[in-house]
Formats: sequence, C-alpha cells, structure tokens
Amino acid sequence: AGDESNALRTPIVAVLGHVDHGKTTLLDKIRGSTVTEGEAGAITQHIGATAVPLETISEMAGSLVNPDDFDLPGLLYIDTPGHHSFSTLRSRGGALADIAVLVIDVNDGFQPQTLEAVDILKRTQTPFIVAANKVDTVPGWNPNEGEPIQQSIEQQSDRVEGDLNDRLYKIIGQLSDEGFSADMYWRVQNFQKNIGVVPVSAMTAEGVPDLLTVLMGLSQRYMKEEMAIDVQGPGAGTVLEVKDTQGFGTTVDAVLYDGTIRADDEIIVGGLNAPITTEVRALLQPRPLAEIRTEKQFEKVDEVSAAAGVKIAAPDLDDAMAGAPIRVVRNRNKDEVVAEVEKELAEIEVRTEEQGVIVKADTLGSLEAIASTLDESEIPIVRAEVGDVAPRDIRVAETAAEDKHKAILAFSVDILDDAEKLAKQEGVRIFEHDVIYRLIEEYEEHVEAIEQ
Ligand code: GTP
Ligand code: MG
Repeated sequence: AGDESNALRTPIVAVLGHVDHGKTTLLDKIRGSTVTEGEAGAITQHIGATAVPLETISEMAGSLVNPDDFDLPGLLYIDTPGHHSFSTLRSRGGALADIAVLVIDVNDGFQPQTLEAVDILKRTQTPFIVAANKVDTVPGWNPNEGEPIQQSIEQQSDRVEGDLNDRLYKIIGQLSDEGFSADMYWRVQNFQKNIGVVPVSAMTAEGVPDLLTVLMGLSQRYMKEEMAIDVQGPGAGTVLEVKDTQGFGTTVDAVLYDGTIRADDEIIVGGLNAPITTEVRALLQPRPLAEIRTEKQFEKVDEVSAAAGVKIAAPDLDDAMAGAPIRVVRNRNKDEVVAEVEKELAEIEVRTEEQGVIVKADTLGSLEAIASTLDESEIPIVRAEVGDVAPRDIRVAETAAEDKHKAILAFSVDILDDAEKLAKQEGVRIFEHDVIYRLIEEYEEHVEAIEQ
C-alpha cells in the first residue's frame, strides 16, 4: 500500500443471495480456496471479506481483461450469509458495498432472500449484476472448465441452450417484476440503467471470467471518482465480528472502507453501552485471497488501507458490537470522533414505544432488519438491543400490560440460564429463530392463538 498505483481505493463488492445459491462457492472459485467445505452444514453464518488483487482477476479473466485498462488495485469481496446481516454492512458508514453480485440459482430462480437482497439493493441504490449460477446443472450440460460463458454456450446442444435460456429469461422476468430492466450482460450497454445477467457455474468456473470482467469494468467506469476520495485519511470501518484470538484476547474483525488505520492509532469503536476509546495494539491482515473469517495465518502490519479486511487487537474490545462503526482518531479532536460514532449508533437506534415486545439480536444489522419487519407488521417494540437474553429483559417483559407483549424475540443470541428460568416463572415467552421472517411468524402465530 501507499505507492502511486494504489492511490485508488479498492472497491467493495458484496455477494448476496438466497441460501445455497452458491455465493461462497463462487468466491472459493475466484480465490482458489475451499471455505464452503469447512462450514458447519455448508451454511455461511457470518460476513466475510477477501481481497482479490488485480493480477488474480486478470489471470482468471484471461483474454477478457487487459490489466493495463485498469488502475484499481483489485476488489474486496464481502461474502454474506443467506440473508442475515447484509443490512449491517450496508447501513454502517453510508455505502460499504460499492457494487454487488446477486447470486441466483438458475434452477431455483427468485427465492425469499433473493427478494430481500433486491430490496436492500433498491433501498441503498447499490449498482449490481446478477450471477445466474449453477448453469452446469442444466440437464445435458457439457462442461468447459473456466471458459468464457458465450464460448461454452456455443458448445452446448440446441436443447440445452434452449433450456438455459428459458431459465435465464425467467430470472430476467422476475427482475422486471421488481422494477429492474435486465438482460444478458453482453447485450447491456449501460450497466447503470440495466442489470447485466452473467450465466456462471461456481463449480466449473464457466462464466467466471465474464463475471470478473464485468465487475472490474463496472467499478472502473462508475466508481473511479468515488474510489479516489481521501485514501490516506484517518480510517473508517465496520465491525464484522468480535472474537477471541489466541495471544491477543478479544479482537474485532473489521472491514475498513475508508482511509487508513495504523498500528499506533487511537480508535473509537461502537460498544454495547457506550463508544469504546482504545489504542490499537496490533493490526493483523489475512493474506491476499484469504477469507478473514477462516484464515488462521495473519500477518502483523503497520498500516492497512481501504478497502480491506483487518483484524484489530486492542484492549477493552469485549463490549464491541458487530455492525458498529470504527473510527480512527489520529490528528482529529477525540470528542468529535466519539460524537460521530454516537451519531451513527443513534441513527440505527430502533424506535421504541411505551408498550411492545423485546428484541434481542446478534448484530446491529439484524436488529435493524427485525425492527423494520416488525414495523411493517405493526408490532411495537419496547426495547431492542444487541446481546444475549438476560434476566433484566424478562423483568421488563413481565411488566407488560398486555399478554401479547410479554414476549422476547431472540435472533441468533443465547438465552442465559437464569433468564430462561425466570421467563418460565413469570410467564414470559421467548421466541428463537435464526431466520428473521420465521421468528416473526412464530410470534404472530402465538398472538393469534392467545387472541382467540
Ligand atoms: P449460504 O452461505 O448458506 O447462504 O449458501 P451459499 O450461497 O454460500 O451456497 P454455497 O456456496 O455454500 O453452495 C451451496 C451448495 O451448492 C454447495 O453444495 C455447492 O457445492 C453447490 N454449488 C454452488 N455453486 C454450484 C454450481 O455452480 N454448480 C453446482 N453443480 N453446484 C454448486
Ligand atoms: Mg455461503
């Protein structure tokens, strides 16, 4: 980092879509790794980040990309779970993802989290392309490892090509139902106006050259001005995960989306109760092409430039919140930076009422997502927090005037033993689910039952 050619910020590409549609496998193909195989039940549970350098992109894209055409350093890919938490990434710091890849299984088409993803992209006005994945599963497909997709399609029988087209046009139709005009990427002139659909296989890498080319082209063409902003200023980022790292105690995995962070910087991190002021003890960076989520080997570095995944070791990080902002103070007024973090946290504070249910969630992003879904269903919230379900939550819930509000909606958090016992005693119901809409459905069914 630091030389002239790196003066542009690395664009951030979020990969999103319905569970099992192949997001992690697609990234595995791009980075030459096997993260999917190591995942519990092959399900992604957290957000990840991987830096892919320009050389790797041009190697994979082959003749489609001429590295001389690009002066971006590469792309930072953010892998997301089926649905949960992507909104965390988006809502922190304005626009964390510069562009997105919406992965859709060609056989499955639009599914609930595909729609959820499209809604997020609409709301945040993030330009995106569609990776129509798993083309190799079209019956009779003749695989052509790593080839550009049009070349591979030419080598399919008319029947297979027809079958693929049926599936692709169905997806294009579904995009149109959502208000997006889409077409096969090779027919798209203006990627800001029209959504390009890239048929790919994360298994055989067919179409991966095309996907990388379109992404580089998009970032280079439309993002260059945004990428040039303040690359050397004090850094801004978002906490992805708070976790123990051997030899360093509690650390945070973060995405730095702006500026730089140095090994001697003072930082402000959004915490459970108040912003945490602390000093960086070590900056640990995953190797290029390594997923921060699964990487074991980290290199200790003096400075990291945006956009990048970085593990930050510092004292007092126990109360740091996933989804919360991180700011480097450096030569700015500390109080102002603290105020900035407070302001950002306040923006994501959920609107609460005098009466309502309690919501506990694992990250700020999921908390926001649940709150907005509850709002749509006109279910009021009395308290919303990141963290495990504790006895004091039960104490609040039991005072509710109406039985239907003696309820706690717990998303991907633990229920402390004392809390569980107390809830039984006091007649407080705890609903647990790790899919947002299921959590709310279960609560609604409960309300229906008690109101009959
Ligand atoms: P979540 O992270 O849980 O949302 O899923 P994901 O979108 O990351 O899906 P993942 O990459 O874990 O893939 C799900 C399954 O689909 C795995 O068994 C993959 O091997 C398989 N798969 C992914 N892409 C392809 C593809 O292009 N072709 C075929 N045949 N299988 C694929
Ligand atoms: Mg995954």
